[in-house]
Amino acid sequence: MHLVLLGPPGAGKGTQGARLAAHLGIPQLATGDVLRAAVRDGTKQGRAAKAYMDRGDLVPDAVILGIMKEALAKPEHAGGVILDGVVRTVPQAEGLARVLEELGRQLDAVLVFDAADEELVRRLGGRTVCDSCQTPYMGREPGTKCEKCGGTLIRRKDDEPEAIRNRLRVFQEQTAPVLQWYRVQEEMGGPRVIHINAIGPVELVESRVRKAVGE
Ligand code: AP5
Repeated sequence: MHLVLLGPPGAGKGTQGARLAAHLGIPQLATGDVLRAAVRDGTKQGRAAKAYMDRGDLVPDAVILGIMKEALAKPEHAGGVILDGVVRTVPQAEGLARVLEELGRQLDAVLVFDAADEELVRRLGGRTVCDSCQTPYMGREPGTKCEKCGGTLIRRKDDEPEAIRNRLRVFQEQTAPVLQWYRVQEEMGGPRVIHINAIGPVELVESRVRKAVGE
């Protein structure tokens, strides 16, 4: 199964992507995680991406298309993948369709996570993430230990108030049009577009996600 998770920052794509990946037994690919690992490792790609990410701007399409192409060709992604935040512009959506076609695969569905801005700001303002495995937490202080891997929880630089405001603006301006693009594709027989109400306890949202994908 190939799924795209689309939604504003803080909607729960990472949280639900990890749960769905575990449930379906297929990997999750999150460009945000790939890029943060590159920044941490100080690679050329990471050094180029850091300033965009810290401000909450999108990293250029060419970088994302490169990551997408390389990752999807890996054998571990051959049986399906959950693409978390991998598609944020129309050129990226077009690029993904091209890459999958070249590989003889296709997208099954686009899950769109809906949540109001006030809730997104509340979640991102209270989030800490593991600096090692990237698991997000709510209500845990920076410096405490990750219960999954023992890494240290940190606050992301792009969870500062100014960067959050910018990310929400960027979502409306550059990512919302992707939804319209997928709607047109759906009308032409492309992947289903399914909206998920992302408000409510994590387990409730998880049950909506599973129902949406027929699990
Ligand atoms: P990325 O890391 O993907 O950030 P994002 O899209 O802004 O998404 P977030 O990780 O902030 O939120 P999420 O929806 O995953 O929510 P989460 O599950 O963590 O990307 C970072 C940057 O990388 C981008 O800004 C850009 O610069 C670059 N980038 C990445 N991909 C790119 C691309 N394709 N093109 C260009 N640039 C790209 O949940 C948030 C919080 O809420 C957590 O604390 C969680 O515990 C909590 N939570 C989750 N669900 C619930 C719930 N139901 N109720 C209450 N709390 C909840």
